[in-house]
Amino acid sequence: MNIGIIGAGALGSNIARAFANAGIPAVISNSRGPESLAGLIKELGPTIKAGTTEEAAKADIVIVAVRWVDVKRVLGELPAWNGRIVVDGTNAVEWIAPDSPDAKDPTNPLAAYGIKAVDLGGRHSSSLVREIVRGARFVKAFNHVDASVLAESETAGGQRVLFYSGDDADAKTTVRSLLEKAGFFGVDLGALDIGGPLASLPFGPLGGASFIKI
Ligand SMILES: NC(=O)c1ccc[n+]([C@@H]2O[C@H](COP(=O)([O-])OP(=O)(O)OC[C@H]3O[C@@H](n4cnc5c(N)ncnc54)[C@H](OP(=O)(O)O)[C@@H]3O)[C@@H](O)[C@H]2O)c1
Repeated sequence: MNIGIIGAGALGSNIARAFANAGIPAVISNSRGPESLAGLIKELGPTIKAGTTEEAAKADIVIVAVRWVDVKRVLGELPAWNGRIVVDGTNAVEWIAPDSPDAKDPTNPLAAYGIKAVDLGGRHSSSLVREIVRGARFVKAFNHVDASVLAESETAGGQRVLFYSGDDADAKTTVRSLLEKAGFFGVDLGALDIGGPLASLPFGPLGGASFIKI
């Protein structure tokens, strides 16, 4: 199974770090082209290659790590998925300017991180992404923790717990194997409509929670 990561910012680069640490090959892309990722590739070593977004999207498992504002455009431009696995690592949040009123909104639990929730009219974010990648086998994962902790899958005397959810049992088994190979402890939260909202930021009860399996 080959792996593509679309997005090479905080989330994508730290997933790539975890894979590099475990010797798992992957192709990673950003919006500016493979050359702009030379520094990251030098750091991560030969298992991680820089590619175009189209190249990353051809993989058997494609991890989505772009900002919510970019999800529809980036995924909507890609060819048919034909049953390949899409792992959605996104959350429906938007970045806010430090001097904007949003940054001081006491009802925003994420103000300190410079982000706020996007109003999805009662839908949960994964159900919207699932619609964009019709034809893919869809799994939600990697989205519930601060991305900076992903680089170390084994820490504090145990394995970092990563939640995942989805409606395709085989796809979830494949993603679980990938998480385990990378040293994480995968916990299946069930169907996407259950697990997605449970583990999403900012309001999911498991969103932001970082568990260690001792
Ligand atoms: N940061 C976290 O702690 C964290 C944790 C969990 C989940 N998430 C979720 O992960 C997603 C990404 O967040 P982030 O913090 O990683 O954002 P980020 O640091 O801004 O990174 C976004 C990445 O998306 C890339 N991108 C934009 N358009 C693209 C395209 N057409 N093809 C390929 N890549 C493209 C950007 O490329 P350029 O650099 O070239 O612009 C950048 O590398 C968000 O949905 C966020 O909610 C983040």
